[in-house]
Amino acid sequence: MTTIQWTEAMSVGVEALDDDHKHLIHLINGLHYSDTGFVELFNELLDYVGGHFEREEQFLDSIGYPGLDGHRGQHDVFADQVSAMLKQYRAEGFTDTDQRVADFLWTWLKGHILIEDLKYAAWAKAKAG
Ligand SMILES: [Fe+2]
Repeated sequence: MTTIQWTEAMSVGVEALDDDHKHLIHLINGLHYSDTGFVELFNELLDYVGGHFEREEQFLDSIGYPGLDGHRGQHDVFADQVSAMLKQYRAEGFTDTDQRVADFLWTWLKGHILIEDLKYAAWAKAKAG
């Protein structure tokens, strides 16, 4: 399975938020498709949704980021998708080879963290001069 390493190029310039992203990457790299793995993974994802998104939104609010509403909207969609996937998992269970969660997290990493999060990082950097 493909793994990904966090690099400085992915830094958003705030250590706590970078640590959250590193943790998510760690989860993606360590996805184990056993039953306990999925339970743990969903617990971690729910923590991520509750903790990281709030930290990030607070930061964006504190710097007056103009894209905050749209950014928050993407977080909300992600949170809804995690809940929907958890419901699905509880209803039908996922097999060891199920790729749904992995695909979902890769899409999030590539489409949100490496694009949208880096946009606010660039904006914050420009603003700080
Ligand atoms: Fe974000």
